Amino acid sequence: MEEALRARRSQRSYLPSPLALEEVAQLLWAAYGITKPPRYKTAPSAGATYPLAVYLVSGEVEGLEPGSYKYLPEAHALVMVRRGDLRPKLYEASLRQPWVLRAPASLVLGADFGRTTSVYGKRGIRYVWMEFGHASQNVYLQAVSLGLGTVAVAAFYDEEVKAVVGMEEDPGYVMPVGRARHNYSPEDLPWEGP
Ligand SMILES: Cc1cc2nc3c(=O)[nH]c(=O)nc-3n(C[C@H](O)[C@H](O)[C@H](O)COP(=O)(O)O)c2cc1C
Repeated sequence: MEEALRARRSQRSYLPSPLALEEVAQLLWAAYGITKPPRYKTAPSAGATYPLAVYLVSGEVEGLEPGSYKYLPEAHALVMVRRGDLRPKLYEASLRQPWVLRAPASLVLGADFGRTTSVYGKRGIRYVWMEFGHASQNVYLQAVSLGLGTVAVAAFYDEEVKAVVGMEEDPGYVMPVGRARHNYSPEDLPWEGP
């Protein structure tokens, strides 16, 4: 754990290599997988309301057709939502951040705020944003442990990301993932916006 925390960095350039299905599966599990059936997960959740949903936008994942998929934590399975390589559209929706186009895949984290606000009222909104942080940190640490790199992207057009992915929930983070490049790349400097 200490090694992963120390090595965690936002990575925006990746080797031109596809991801294995097992790697993607492990990242999805880290984000929001079941750890104690039937519903307790890797990330804590206010009142165990579990408002988040995790999607995968797959471009180059071995054994997985390009498209968007919803992760079903209970079954540890993916269901296809939209077919085709959606990375160019996700890139456009994400203010043309190049890492979104070039990464072999992106995780997209969304939330159904109503699941938490129906219990906690307005305060539930902050609880949901906190949960985005928990799940995305899990992805960062799991990525680093697998020799992969990711970056938490929050600068995007909400409605466009939603439409591209075909998700019902509101998006909070787009997390491109690729094989880590260990040499320095100027792209790994903090991105300050277009
Ligand atoms: C709420 C939030 C939004 C962010 N949005 C973006 C983004 O849109 N694009 C990007 O390249 N990095 C984004 N980042 C990553 C930060 O630039 C990065 O965490 C910061 O430069 C510190 O670097 P480190 O993660 O390597 O420690 C975001 C980070 C956070 C926490």
